Amino acid sequence: MADLQGRTVVITGAGRGLGAALAVSLAEAGANLVLCGRNQAALETVADGIAATTGLRPVCISVDLADNDGVRQAVEAIARSHEHIDLLVNNGAMWLEARDEPHTAEEVLGVINSAITGTFLFTQGLLPLLRRSATPDIVTIGSVSGLPNGLLDGVSVPFYAAKRGQTAVAEGLRQMLAGTPVRSIILHPPDLDDIQPADPAWAEAPARAKSARATNRDVVEAVLFAVTRPRNISLSIVLDADDGGVFPAQLP
Ligand SMILES: NC(=O)c1ccc[n+]([C@@H]2O[C@H](COP(=O)([O-])OP(=O)(O)OC[C@H]3O[C@@H](n4cnc5c(N)ncnc54)[C@H](OP(=O)(O)O)[C@@H]3O)[C@@H](O)[C@H]2O)c1
Repeated sequence: MADLQGRTVVITGAGRGLGAALAVSLAEAGANLVLCGRNQAALETVADGIAATTGLRPVCISVDLADNDGVRQAVEAIARSHEHIDLLVNNGAMWLEARDEPHTAEEVLGVINSAITGTFLFTQGLLPLLRRSATPDIVTIGSVSGLPNGLLDGVSVPFYAAKRGQTAVAEGLRQMLAGTPVRSIILHPPDLDDIQPADPAWAEAPARAKSARATNRDVVEAVLFAVTRPRNISLSIVLDADDGGVFPAQLP
């Protein structure tokens, strides 16, 4: 297990799914956490579980990344309680599946704004706190859907576009922050099985066969690998899998 002892880490979308798995795993690695998301009750449940195992209770701050005022208020709340941040994990983003019926304007705005506007404004707002860290990192969770020439494959066009734009935010930040201590790292996961560290499937995941889907554990381990590289290296990682990955599996 990587050592993040004493690092202050902010994770968005931390109340469930991959964000919750990241929260539990990074807490086990010694990080002090700030958990963000729309569902305060879900954040508190994750924080309770972490407090029970590590003795350190994460701070929970509710934020809707699609709401500009909400993003500003969340940034202010984090700045009131923390002098610096070592790692920001931009994990939260609204999902929207493809379907035959038209998507509403509200859905489209929610998807685009949570992934692009929210990721950018939240990161920009927290940059002064990151700049006070000796090891400042931004990790953005993209998607194979957001890669150039990525397959649509059941994903809605707004989500596809949002993930491409979110990738541009992370890559633009890397260019903007070149020559500063802050790294901008991006990971592109394939379709994931939503398993948590307490599930038996988590311990069994390393033994998965090549044809099996990726899991939250694969992304957590890639994040830990990326942030523990020497500081002259900023990684972009594509996690591929035969099922739900970059290339469709060939039928026999
Ligand atoms: N699951 C996959 O197969 C897969 C594959 C590739 C990439 N990803 C990416 O991985 C990240 C985590 O997704 P997931 O797999 O855990 O499933 P998910 O169902 O897509 O979860 C989305 C997460 O983002 C949060 N979120 C959604 N809209 C938000 C908003 N407007 N403001 C703040 N938070 C918001 C949700 O929390 P609340 O609802 O509590 O706010 C939830 O924690 C996302 O960026 C997703 O695009 C997932």
